[in-house]
Amino acid sequence: MKILCILANPKPVQESYSKRAEMEFIKEYKIQNPTHEVEIMDLYEKGQEHLSYETLSNAINNRSGKMCEEATYFSEFDKYIVCAPTWNLTTPSILKSYIDHIVAKGVTFKYSSNGIPKGLLKDKKAIYIGSRGGAYPFPLSLIAWDERYVRFIFRFMGIKNFKKIIFENTDKDPVKAKEKFPEFLNKVKSMSKSF
Ligand SMILES: Cc1cc2nc3c(=O)[nH]c(=O)nc-3n(C[C@H](O)[C@H](O)[C@H](O)COP(=O)(O)O)c2cc1C
Repeated sequence: MKILCILANPKPVQESYSKRAEMEFIKEYKIQNPTHEVEIMDLYEKGQEHLSYETLSNAINNRSGKMCEEATYFSEFDKYIVCAPTWNLTTPSILKSYIDHIVAKGVTFKYSSNGIPKGLLKDKKAIYIGSRGGAYPFPLSLIAWDERYVRFIFRFMGIKNFKKIIFENTDKDPVKAKEKFPEFLNKVKSMSKSF
């Protein structure tokens, strides 16, 4: 079983709530599943690029190049952990750039004969681990695009089993956030057990 953990946060672990939660998740996951392979893909360390014209035209015209390679690589994993902060109501743009590379026609999705898109990834699951400065209960949840966008685009590729755990109010009430974080980590740990 292969697990890909995608990190989209330039902060060092000790300064990031979401990264600390992700580390706790993986620590517990490895205890529960010692034979599973977990790969960390830090998009900042990787130097994730924007989708270029060259990459795009290679994918469209030749079904080759970086986009197809990245999408194929992504498709070889069984489970995904996406870890990101909320930035300006969505995810850091580096995650969008990565997604622009992996949503590749013929690799992670296709069009059916009547033009309806169909995800090609089957029997996979994902979890989104996030952190936000404020809180977004309904109806504000409608404007927080981060997790919702990742959920929908994963679904577009066929990944329907998608869970989330988000630590909120980190900036709105920093003192309370520090107090509440251990309790949140316990929730993270228990979600990891059933992942
Ligand atoms: C550039 C930037 C934009 C942000 N935009 C939002 C936002 O739209 N909504 C929000 O609730 N918090 C926002 N925040 C606060 C972060 O989501 C918050 O600090 C969170 O804890 C970051 O996750 P981390 O601790 O894992 O880095 C923003 C922070 C930064 C640096």
